[in-house]
Amino acid sequence: MANGFFITFEGGEGCGKSTQSRFLFDELTSQGYNTILTREPGGVSSAEKIREILVQGNKDSLLPMSELLLLFAARYEHVEKKIKPELNKGTIVICDRFFDSSIAYQGYGHGIELKKIEQLKFLTIDFFEPDLTFLLNLDVSEGLSRSKKRDNKELRFENMDLSFHKKLHNGFIQIAKNNSERFSIIDASKSINQIKQNILGIVLNKLKLKKEL
Ligand code: TMP
Repeated sequence: MANGFFITFEGGEGCGKSTQSRFLFDELTSQGYNTILTREPGGVSSAEKIREILVQGNKDSLLPMSELLLLFAARYEHVEKKIKPELNKGTIVICDRFFDSSIAYQGYGHGIELKKIEQLKFLTIDFFEPDLTFLLNLDVSEGLSRSKKRDNKELRFENMDLSFHKKLHNGFIQIAKNNSERFSIIDASKSINQIKQNILGIVLNKLKLKKEL
């Protein structure tokens, strides 16, 4: 997409992707790169309202397909109103979760046919994809206990069964293997600083390669 660069962070609950995406944003900004940090579901006011319905309340409050449709409505708003315009200006866009989360959570987790999710993707954002995706890979139980310890109103997904979280975790690994040119799998059990340096090294290398093209 134009001259910008689109980086996404993915992973299960409590894997540290929000912390790491913030670190990357701060570092790239301090190095003089024009960068924004955003998130899904959310990122623009309409999508943030949809987020509240998705992440708060009882775990059974939505059927999986309704959840998926809401996620895509939020994503369409976010991509059209924020992500694409920023990329067109040459900005580095860092997004905490994106389309791969729908494949992992609604597809592998809830069992919605992956083909249906792909169809919704083409209907809304078409071939639009991140340039680089980090998967922060952490043991499921460890991640859930980290996530539930936080003072957090957004526990609707955390409250789903352990088996759901195990399925989506395996799903993420599968997605990363199927898209190996775009994905970097990061061992999220390492120290925060090791992870930060690992991610920064990969990003700076990609940005250098892009400049040389
Ligand atoms: P967060 O906790 O990483 O901010 O994400 C909010 C929740 O939304 C998280 O529990 C995962 C869920 N989610 C999906 O189920 N599918 C999606 O496509 C996205 C973007 C998020």
